[in-house]
Amino acid sequence: MEKRIPFRDDRILQHPFLLTFVLALGFVFMDPFHVGPLGGRDYRPVKHNVAPYKQVMDSWPTDNRSRLGSGKLEFVDQVYGPESLEFDLMGRGPYTGLADGRVVRWMGDTLGWETFALVTPNWTEKLCANGVASTTSKQAKLEQRCGRPLGLRFDRNNGNLYIADAYYGLMVVGPGGGLATPLATHVEGKPILFANDLDIHKNGSIFFTDTSKRYNRLDHFFILLEGEATGRLLRYDPPSKTTHIVLDGLAFPNGVQLSKDQSFLLFTETTNCRLWKYWLEGPKMGLVELVADLPGYPDNVRLNDRGEFWVAIDCCRTPSQEILSHNPWIKNFYFRLPFKMSFLARMFGMEMYTVISLFNEKGDILEVLEDKKGEVMKLVSEVREVNGKLWIGTVAHNHIATLPYPPRI
Ligand SMILES: *[C@@H]1O[C@H](CO)[C@@H](O)[C@H](O)[C@H]1NC(C)=O
Ligand SMILES: *[C@@H]1O[C@H](CO)[C@@H](O)[C@H](O)[C@H]1NC(C)=O
Ligand SMILES: *[C@@H]1O[C@H](CO)[C@@H](O)[C@H](O)[C@H]1NC(C)=O
Repeated sequence: MEKRIPFRDDRILQHPFLLTFVLALGFVFMDPFHVGPLGGRDYRPVKHNVAPYKQVMDSWPTDNRSRLGSGKLEFVDQVYGPESLEFDLMGRGPYTGLADGRVVRWMGDTLGWETFALVTPNWTEKLCANGVASTTSKQAKLEQRCGRPLGLRFDRNNGNLYIADAYYGLMVVGPGGGLATPLATHVEGKPILFANDLDIHKNGSIFFTDTSKRYNRLDHFFILLEGEATGRLLRYDPPSKTTHIVLDGLAFPNGVQLSKDQSFLLFTETTNCRLWKYWLEGPKMGLVELVADLPGYPDNVRLNDRGEFWVAIDCCRTPSQEILSHNPWIKNFYFRLPFKMSFLARMFGMEMYTVISLFNEKGDILEVLEDKKGEVMKLVSEVREVNGKLWIGTVAHNHIATLPYPPRI
């Protein structure tokens, strides 16, 4: 009997090393001074389901020539974290949302970049316009006040620009720009915490993603770390000005793109590296189907003129991702260690490079372009194919990459 309750007596306390270890462990778990990378967040890792590493990586085609590496960097240090790229009805652009909170547009060599829209009346140049520093941690405490426009789409019927802002929700601004008007900031009485991307149905309804109910954009890394699945696909109906939950329980829903005939839409789930199809019409209406397990973490999806889908992917999955996703207790301990998150992440082999991939409507892979050495692009967010050229956005760097398509090499 006595032996089964060794912690009841104080022998353990007489062992200085063990005592120190137990206290240190307790300290790490409690993190009373927020010294670990969690900084006092209510961190609750959960088990989630990613496809087996080997199965995905062995079957995924690779671009041996690393053709994305021959892309060109444009507008270097003129745009800051251009997440989404859009062109208006007259073909002007690109328009893009920046880390300093503005939506800007390229007006050609003479006029350069001009501010097109703002997402909050509180935006001021003094506070928000921090140039190349906007994509650094310096902007962190300003981001919420200045805004962070992510997904952009023009309504082809009237030239209005719809914006998914990470803090201000679904918004719209007229063809002449200016201050955007909020359309959807709440759903079922609760605030939309992290609007991410959108697409416009021909009947006027807007499908958009709300990445998490628990974390905002600044804390997006914790969504990936926890594996939490509180994200949603939402729909805003202009006639009734109401917002509806289309799908709930998603793990980092991100890009959204309607098909050419609008019978379905595709959306990405970043945490689990998946591309999904949601049927809007026909016998499978309302059903969700897996299109692909991707080699890395997907962001936006965009349609080309041929009705195919470009997916921007930050590569790659790691074997440790699979282990962590099945064993949340490891994440619970490991990420409480008092080291910088970037260091802890690097220990898990999270070196990033870029893969972009083209899918047809059936989900066949038509093209894979990689930049294996990460020379041109890292952390890509969107690929837009316009008139024989790919425009590639990035949420974290100060440039846009372009590449002729089909590639000349
Ligand atoms: C790329 O390399 C792999 C293995 O090194 C090889 O099996 C494959 O045929 C190559 N593909 C092309 C298109 O060269
Ligand atoms: C602008 O800032 C004020 C003061 O901080 C705040 O009360 C208000 O909600 C802000 N407006 C918007 C649209 O965020
Ligand atoms: C537009 O079509 C979508 C997809 O079928 C549907 O969910 C939505 O309710 C429609 N919106 C309006 C305003 O009829």
